[in-house]
Amino acid sequence: MSNPSLLILPGDGIGQEVMAEVKKIIDWFGDKQDLKFDVSEDLVGGAAYDAHGTPLHDDTMAKAQEVDAVLLGAVGGPKYDDLDFSVKPERGLLRLRKEMDLFANLRPAQCFDALADFSSLKKDIVSGLDIMIVRELTSGSYFGEPRGIFTENNERVGINTQRYTESEIERVARSAFELAKRRGNKVCSMEKANVMESGILWRDVVTEVHQADYADVELSHMYADNGAMQLVRAPKQFDVILTDNLFGDLLSDCAAMLTGSLGMLPSASLGSPMENGRPKAMYEPVHGSAPDIMGQNKANPSACILSFAMALRYSFDQGDAATMLEKAVESVLAKGIRTADLMQADGGKAIGTSEMGDAIINELNANV
Ligand code: NAD
Ligand code: IPM
Ligand code: MN
Repeated sequence: MSNPSLLILPGDGIGQEVMAEVKKIIDWFGDKQDLKFDVSEDLVGGAAYDAHGTPLHDDTMAKAQEVDAVLLGAVGGPKYDDLDFSVKPERGLLRLRKEMDLFANLRPAQCFDALADFSSLKKDIVSGLDIMIVRELTSGSYFGEPRGIFTENNERVGINTQRYTESEIERVARSAFELAKRRGNKVCSMEKANVMESGILWRDVVTEVHQADYADVELSHMYADNGAMQLVRAPKQFDVILTDNLFGDLLSDCAAMLTGSLGMLPSASLGSPMENGRPKAMYEPVHGSAPDIMGQNKANPSACILSFAMALRYSFDQGDAATMLEKAVESVLAKGIRTADLMQADGGKAIGTSEMGDAIINELNANV
């Protein structure tokens, strides 16, 4: 039987740096655990634009559709600020999400004990935190029509449309309820049904799906602005948060600081099952290309490494290997081995991106 296939798209900025560490981890699993992947690598974002004049070549798109999972670093950067909107690096990422139909974006925010002091919130508010944001990823204001910049009455008008169909809401709601059943059995759905019709529909459909098939799961609804406040007031009240594309983007960056650093947050973007029963999937850190620290060996590779752990769990049925990797990251952090984003002002010496990757490999070696 052939090995499972993995397409690696490092992208831009620190995307390339953190992915270099993931590649070491992939090699380690192949060498030491006989867990081998057919790995191919390609360009996305600005790197693809530089090579091909497009942020995602059609051949790369086709490859992404064929593999068992895609692992993406990050895209974007100031170098591409002046490009036409249609070829901006971010369009490459959005095309992957849309054409692979990756509608459920799982963004877990877990606060490792060792990092409870690093959150911008008080330790007791975040210690032990384990929440999962399920962000709808292929619709809403990111993709709704009409959109564009037009001229009306001699002035420019910028338009984006928040649009959701019942079936789009239903399928992502099912993902959230299914996840909740395997966790704390609670879903809090966030929208703005007080001001948006799409929010009213969202609330109705989530309630219908709940009543029909998931009445055993505890469901609550919250306006997303209150949700943002509650997330920093008392985040441990949540288990699974279900929300739309734009609110989910904001709430997940916000949740990042509950864990200590944006450099800690992984994600899985999942679609419908393929012929082999596994979901179509792309794994990517929540953070971006971090132009302010790129090229300096400063980035925290944990988010990207933990994204690979999610791939092991959700695409390759390797839950034990995923846990092994997550524990290795946690142990390294607990030993005080940390990148600069996790250093307190008063001290400790930060290590670099590649040293962090090496430390995680050492930890894996120590535990086999
Ligand atoms: P960003 O996430 O790149 O950076 C925000 C801040 O967090 C910066 O100070 C950065 O140094 C820090 N940071 C991020 N990741 C880190 C890590 N792994 N280790 C240590 N520090 C880290 O967000 P931004 O600056 O708003 O965006 C920069 C570019 O990245 C933009 O072009 C944006 O569109 C793009 N972006 C891409 C993705 C993605 O590819 N999924 C996600 C977000 C932003
Ligand atoms: C993210 C990013 C992306 C988004 C951008 C880069 C398209 O911020 O993955 O959170 O807005 O979804
Ligand atoms: Mn974002």
